[in-house]
Amino acid sequence: MTHRNITILICIAFAIGTLIYAGNVNINLPGLNQGFAPEQPLAFSHRLHSGDLTIPCLYCHSGAEKGAPAGIPAASTCMNCHRFVTAGWDQMKIEEKKAAEEKRDLQLVVSSELQKLYQATGYSTETMAYQDKLGAPLEWVRVHDLPDFVFFNHSRHVMADVPCQTCHGLVETMETVHQAADLSMGWCVNCHRDINSGKNANFKGKHASISCAVCHY
Ligand code: HEC
Ligand code: HEC
Ligand code: HEC
Ligand code: HEC
Ligand code: HEC
Repeated sequence: MTHRNITILICIAFAIGTLIYAGNVNINLPGLNQGFAPEQPLAFSHRLHSGDLTIPCLYCHSGAEKGAPAGIPAASTCMNCHRFVTAGWDQMKIEEKKAAEEKRDLQLVVSSELQKLYQATGYSTETMAYQDKLGAPLEWVRVHDLPDFVFFNHSRHVMADVPCQTCHGLVETMETVHQAADLSMGWCVNCHRDINSGKNANFKGKHASISCAVCHY
């Protein structure tokens, strides 16, 4: 072990010791969070958008290709479609049938979930236009959250062709996203080690460092 690594090890041990000493019970060791699936401010379904509608992951999480965070899409990305799509097909079909039975014109159907998106973006479904006033932004609750002393970079993995699903599970089948992996140090290091030893046939000839300084500042 080099001097630099030992210094880092001591720093990390000290930082953790300090946290525990300070009685900070909120140390978010993610190993405890496997399966975590918090309720979100709006019922966004990956199963519907990625599974049924097959919208590519990178359409909404383009950061994953470019840098460390994958990023959560802005409401304006949703509005590319939802300026026009104001409700699910099922709800619209029901209105079509009703209108035909009652021999009247179709009424616009606005889903209550999408109403939250319209409020956040200041969009009026009466005029189908943006108003001057914006509502409070949607506050998505974070699902995955490594401790601050760990460095993770999406683009390094995405560019090496590690599929999103290897680390996040079959997101395109999830109504609500949950944390699929335990995100422990062992999980990271084992995959890196298997790649370097050639045990993981998907990554022949690749090298993924297991030196402390690569993952710890
Ligand atoms: C239409 C946009 C859209 C598409 C397409 C999409 N996502 Fe998401 N994704 C979101 C939004 C919005 C959130 C935040 C709300 C939530 O967690 O459900 C999110 C959250 C996530 C999270 C949890 C983030 C956290 O807080 O830790 C993961 C992981 C994720 N997406 C992976 C994927 C993968 C993998 C795909 C492709 C199979 C995908 N997403 C496709 C919009 C999208
Ligand atoms: C590429 C187009 C597209 C994008 C981008 C998109 N959606 Fe959708 N969304 C749809 C379509 C189409 C439906 C209806 C599908 C159906 O009913 O089968 C839908 C349905 C929904 C519904 C269900 C409505 C209901 O009540 O049934 C919600 C909620 C929703 N989207 C939220 C979002 C959010 C939030 C984002 C951005 C993170 C987003 N969508 C991005 C196309 C899109
Ligand atoms: C090698 C494993 C791995 C792969 C591959 C991976 N992720 Fe992640 N992802 C993580 C980890 C670990 C975190 C938590 C990072 C943190 O807390 O700093 C994360 C966090 C996220 C988040 C939360 C917000 C953010 O900006 O970090 C989203 C969204 C996400 N990933 C989407 C994706 C998508 C989409 C792909 C594929 C294009 C993907 N991930 C590929 C491991 C991975
Ligand atoms: C499924 C396998 C897999 C998992 C799980 C995984 N990685 Fe990786 N990681 C890779 C591959 C493959 C590369 C090599 C990328 C390349 O060739 O550039 C890599 C590279 C890296 C690098 C760049 C290393 C360098 O040599 O510069 C860092 C940093 C990293 N990973 C951190 C993490 C962390 C932190 C985690 C856990 C939260 C993690 N990885 C989980 C496969 C994985
Ligand atoms: C490929 C990435 C990666 C490498 C390489 C790595 N770590 Fe970690 N380490 C992590 C992640 C992720 C966590 C947080 C999750 C956890 O605590 O298991 C962590 C947590 C820790 C902790 C906190 C205590 C604990 O067990 O939770 C210490 C101390 C630590 N690492 C030291 C080291 C040392 C020393 C090395 C070099 C021998 C090293 N790490 C190499 C990813 C890595």
